[in-house]
Amino acid sequence: MNWTFDLLLWYDNAKRTLPWRETGDPYCIWLSEIMLQQTRVDQGMPYYQRFTERFPDVYQLADAQEQEVLKYWEGLGYYSRARNLHKAAKLLAAMDKFPSTAAEWQKLPGVGRYTSGAVASIAFHERIPAVDGNVFRVISRLFAITSDISKPATLKLFERLLLDVMPSERPGDFNQALMELGATICAPRQPDCTTCPIVQYCEAGKSGNWSLYPVKLAKVKSKQLNLAFMKVEHQGKQLWRKRPEGGIWAGLWEPYGVEAEELIDVEFVEKAIFETFKIPKEKASIEPLAPSVTHVLTHRKFIVSFWGPVFLSTFVLPDGYQWIEPEQVANLPKSRLIMNVTAAFLQS
Ligand code: ADE
Repeated sequence: MNWTFDLLLWYDNAKRTLPWRETGDPYCIWLSEIMLQQTRVDQGMPYYQRFTERFPDVYQLADAQEQEVLKYWEGLGYYSRARNLHKAAKLLAAMDKFPSTAAEWQKLPGVGRYTSGAVASIAFHERIPAVDGNVFRVISRLFAITSDISKPATLKLFERLLLDVMPSERPGDFNQALMELGATICAPRQPDCTTCPIVQYCEAGKSGNWSLYPVKLAKVKSKQLNLAFMKVEHQGKQLWRKRPEGGIWAGLWEPYGVEAEELIDVEFVEKAIFETFKIPKEKASIEPLAPSVTHVLTHRKFIVSFWGPVFLSTFVLPDGYQWIEPEQVANLPKSRLIMNVTAAFLQS
């Protein structure tokens, strides 16, 4: 016997029932793999359900407006996933067929080595690995691999190793079994080695050294930025904008805001209001609207404050902003950060 056999046996008995596992539909499998990048299964599941109800196939998704797709992704984070999914859906709908190999899947926007391997192996039974964070952890512990997983060469090493051992009959199940083991037993901090189906083959499990793996040396230092959002009103409407193409939160909506390297206080906000809208400082009477928050993303950390209200009679409309009826705000796709404070912006 070998570990791949024991792993698959365990997977057959212990695997979670997940909707995309009940179907061979490449659309559902692709969608689930995109959604579950950087997102845990329990977080992603309600999104998956709502998304597939509204967009049951690639044609419905291709026909939708990007704003509606983003609305269904609202709060899930990493919104370029949704924008790329939508772009890829348009290409796939035009092709009128799904590619069946990882190499072809990789030509689509948002589909990298991991996603292409996962979709091709699960939906089309191509014998190809799919290495995500879970798989890095499981395999590095199993073989006590000390190579730095932040290096591209290490990914190649893991892929080669897996290609050597993966069974040809059930490549998709084998990849999913590795992910499943990483998600449920071989956890980053508290792996449950006593219930692990392959602990007898595992270098780290046998020695208790699991905490040494995986080795990840490169730490990206996150850049800190200060943001201030303001409730700016005119005749009952509020100033909001759709964030521009290309940057963070592209296509998502937010109230009028400024960003700065330095810490933003009330004087800073009053000055910004004065300079942007050409109204006297004493008219602004700015106060905090909601408690400040620290919002941490993968490569960035934001200190965010919320201010207002500012009532404008005359004004210069800043570039890219528009007046929005308060009743419309609920319909706009927003980031989690903005969703959390929307109620404070809508209170009168
Ligand atoms: N995470 C990403 N894809 C997965 C899958 N197919 N099964 C379990 N966890 C996953």
